[in-house]
Amino acid sequence: MPRKVNYGLDYDDGYDDYDDYDDYEDYANANDYGVKEKDLFPFPEVTEKPSWNDRSTIKVEKKTTKLALWQCSVCNSDNEQSSSSCDICGVLRDPAQNIGNGSAENAPFQFNTLSPDDMVSVGKISSKKSSKVSANNTGKKAIAKFSATNEMAENSSGIISGANQLNGSESGNANIKSDAPQILASDLHQMKLDKASTNFRKAKPLAEYKPEKWMLANQDGILNQLNLAVVGHVDSGKSTLSGQLLHLLGRVSKKEMHKFEKEAKEKGKGSFAFAWATDESAEERERGITMTVAVAYFDSKKYRVVLLDSPGHKDFVPNMISGATQADAAVLVVDASIGSFEAGMDGNGFGQTKEHAQLIRSFGVEQVIVAVNKMDTVGFSKERFEFIKSQLGNFLRSCGFKESQITWIPLSAMENENLVTSATDARLSSWYEGSCLLEAVDSLQLPVRDASKPLLLPICDVIKSHSLGQVAACGKIETGAIKNGSRVLVMPLREVATVRSIERDSCPCSVARAGDNVAVSLQGIDGVHVTPGGVLCHPDYPVTVASRLELKILVLDIMGPILVGSKFEFHIHHAKEAARLVKIVSLVDQKTGEAAKKTPRFLTAKQSAIIEVALDRAVCAEEFSKHRALGRAFLRASGCTVGVGIVSKVFSDES
Ligand code: GTP
Ligand code: MG
Repeated sequence: MPRKVNYGLDYDDGYDDYDDYDDYEDYANANDYGVKEKDLFPFPEVTEKPSWNDRSTIKVEKKTTKLALWQCSVCNSDNEQSSSSCDICGVLRDPAQNIGNGSAENAPFQFNTLSPDDMVSVGKISSKKSSKVSANNTGKKAIAKFSATNEMAENSSGIISGANQLNGSESGNANIKSDAPQILASDLHQMKLDKASTNFRKAKPLAEYKPEKWMLANQDGILNQLNLAVVGHVDSGKSTLSGQLLHLLGRVSKKEMHKFEKEAKEKGKGSFAFAWATDESAEERERGITMTVAVAYFDSKKYRVVLLDSPGHKDFVPNMISGATQADAAVLVVDASIGSFEAGMDGNGFGQTKEHAQLIRSFGVEQVIVAVNKMDTVGFSKERFEFIKSQLGNFLRSCGFKESQITWIPLSAMENENLVTSATDARLSSWYEGSCLLEAVDSLQLPVRDASKPLLLPICDVIKSHSLGQVAACGKIETGAIKNGSRVLVMPLREVATVRSIERDSCPCSVARAGDNVAVSLQGIDGVHVTPGGVLCHPDYPVTVASRLELKILVLDIMGPILVGSKFEFHIHHAKEAARLVKIVSLVDQKTGEAAKKTPRFLTAKQSAIIEVALDRAVCAEEFSKHRALGRAFLRASGCTVGVGIVSKVFSDES
């Protein structure tokens, strides 16, 4: 049942009940939310890519950029950027794709989060997605994988296109040729937006909304879904932990496990056998890293758990954001071995234990289980566990996690110690008497679900089968409910569609409500109008679409100033867009939350401020006070998260 995802951020209630963004003192005391000096603004003019053969070195080679590809929406073939139509089937390039504007000036060349290789891999995964439709429909598959959204890949295509022009690299010819398709693409995009505006229907006032009875009914006998993100530094053992859990709980059979073991061994990757349960793609297996979020399911006593196994590698943080933004709670996996825990806590932008912890708190996640993994490598030492607990505990509290909401579990995913039953190794059981991981999952509390509001389902992933004319939107229902036959508005293109069928946990169901992670098959709509980063909503209560937003942000631990004009990757729920800082409205007093100094010239680390950003293209967004999930925003630049915040004002494109 694999499926794969992409991205999203949080401050609860603005600065009100977001306790530790509330407590800026504490936050300020926290060390290193690292951004290296090279990552300061203005951004470095380089096109760098990591060497995937050697994870420890992120090699920098200038001008190695390859041409990015775009994928035909009909036959899924990969085409060069310079082609305006598919080389195989001749279909015109999808205007909804995020095509570079061909202007070196406008190209946000600073973003180097996705390497050209990543984009190719995204293409591969998305073509794989199509083939997964039938498996998904039959409910046979147990793990789902989300890739970076098509938006992302395509967005990046635009970026690379701009970068290539700047660099005058191998893409010289392509750039000359690329003018025509890009003009064509922008025309098509305009046509699509025009069409969307003719579909415009004014939203009804929220007060008029009355949920129907079926929307609120209890689902007797059905376990509640708990969306659980597994996050942490690269190689900490997230996938091994996920695979081992799925195996122990019967979701991955002995036979499948045996096959993984055999094949992994043959490829010289024996130690990754459990990880292969969720790392499905050939690239992930070959590289031994997770690249996109995998979604799998298992039952605990209390919950039907939707496990979101996230990538830990720095370059795939956008994918982590897209997938883990759906989380109700998180398992933060840390590697206990000497040096590895310390690497995860590194403040120079390479320590994803810190970045992930910061991000999940910003997604609104309040409960976290810290799985101190690989305890076998330190002889199940109590001292090491306590050391990690004290170091990481300080940081987690500074991010806003309450002490009472953090559970610490020493375990070994590989040796199956303390996962679904109490520890058996005497070196651990002699000093640890707390719960095992599964018990800790059961002690998590379900966040409040709001089925009484109009439907909002941010689209995390789209599964298309053009041959069958099917398109399915995947994601978590944030508010409201749907059933077979419901009419939904697909934003931002304002197309109305009908729900043909719903899958929850890879099994068909007739009704799904807030909190459910579902795949919704739609009819009456062209598949190209359903895009990751979009939102399914109630036809009378459309989500706002905007390309200019006011944000209340907290600047993380960057080394240099952020100036007006700085460019970012802007993340909101599953959407990602290039953005520019157009105004610093004011600083915000971190104690009172009130506006302080007006229009400062720049922002520095750990300041909070109200800013305005202009996006290259409009996204679905809401003010945080109206819809939390659609009002959390993240700013990234040069591969690092530089700011987290909330949407405080939406300048709607329709007003
Ligand atoms: P990314 O998804 O790429 O960030 O990695 P990951 O966190 O999913 O790590 P993964 O599960 O792929 O495991 C990385 C390596 O750690 C593999 O070689 C595993 O065998 C090893 N590993 C995982 N858990 C344990 C453990 O409990 N003990 C030991 N000794 N090794 C482990
Ligand atoms: Mg992994």
